[in-house]
Amino acid sequence: MSLASIQKHATDWVADCPLSTLALALIGAGWLGSYALSFARMLVDLARPGIPLSRFGAKKGAWAVVTGATAGIGRDFALQLAAAGFNVFLASRTTSKLEEIAQEIAAQYPSVQTKIHAIDFSSANADYAGLKQVLDSLDVGVLINNVGKSYDEPTFFQDLPEQDMTDIVEINVNATLKVTKIVVPGMISRKRGLILTVGSFASLIPSPLLAVYSGSKAFVSTWSQALGSELQGTGVEVELLNTYFVVSKLSKIRKSSWMIPTPKTYVRSVLSHIGVRGGAVGQPHISTPYHGHAPVQWVVDHLFSHRFWLNYNRKLHLDIRRRAIRKREREAAKAIKGE
Ligand SMILES: NC(=O)c1ccc[n+]([C@@H]2O[C@H](COP(=O)([O-])OP(=O)(O)OC[C@H]3O[C@@H](n4cnc5c(N)ncnc54)[C@H](OP(=O)(O)O)[C@@H]3O)[C@@H](O)[C@H]2O)c1
Repeated sequence: MSLASIQKHATDWVADCPLSTLALALIGAGWLGSYALSFARMLVDLARPGIPLSRFGAKKGAWAVVTGATAGIGRDFALQLAAAGFNVFLASRTTSKLEEIAQEIAAQYPSVQTKIHAIDFSSANADYAGLKQVLDSLDVGVLINNVGKSYDEPTFFQDLPEQDMTDIVEINVNATLKVTKIVVPGMISRKRGLILTVGSFASLIPSPLLAVYSGSKAFVSTWSQALGSELQGTGVEVELLNTYFVVSKLSKIRKSSWMIPTPKTYVRSVLSHIGVRGGAVGQPHISTPYHGHAPVQWVVDHLFSHRFWLNYNRKLHLDIRRRAIRKREREAAKAIKGE
């Protein structure tokens, strides 16, 4: 069939077509086109480089503050920010683990200074005044609000121990607010700063059986976007990192895959994509920079209803709960048999 005959067929079809069918076809094409454009925008965004870390004081004596710095994602932020030329302030719960990572940084990057600060963010009496005193004396260029706590296993709200509920709010919400409040004034006065808060897909779709964790991550997501807007024009960049699964103790996932990176791969992707929205297409102050997480967010944001995803998450977490209970029962049976 020649091009001319295709054109003729198309013109005849349009001429013969009832107006209502034509209108529906146009709406459909526009709808599909906007989805295709949004997906393309995500791909183009992921391919572009982020804001260089030198803008926030790398190799100029600035400090990066990392909370929850001794394991998982936080540990890799500490190591990779040291490699990028920041002095690193490590705040976490266990002194021995803090000493270990500080020694590792000193061995790998002799020109980088480290300070360790043991603090239990779950305590309502945590010494934030002491933390402020130390941080006020430093040129803080970067804050990584990473520390976080989730459930041991998916649990119905009424069965969640009260202590776990309080700890999750204290660590995920209050510590994030209090540490940020300490560093923001200095960043504004120096006209430069980067505040990254590790969020979760548990706030993108509410997570039944992880209700308190999910709610805490929704809080930091909304707060980050509002703070980012407040600080516009001050030189301080604020970003909520929308994070899907990453291999760690918290996620209880040990094997990495394309969609579930190691902390090292995840953090590398974050630090090379500052200011890049990735999967959070068109959402200011939110970033989903890892290439395996970005399409997942795009699908959740664009396809199916909110009810669909809520039900999907409910089934997923009921299934994880069933498997966790079965595992516990198997282990208890083994213990009784003395295996
Ligand atoms: N891993 C994932 O799949 C995933 C997905 C979405 C979001 N996230 C978020 O990513 C962040 C880091 O998670 P992760 O998976 O890397 O966790 P992780 O491997 O369990 O590491 C948590 C870090 O926080 C510290 N910490 C825990 N409780 C503390 C407390 N009360 N006071 C001070 N420090 C404390 C831990 O120190 P100790 O070693 O002393 O316990 C450790 O350094 C969290 O905000 C989490 O919600 C993770």
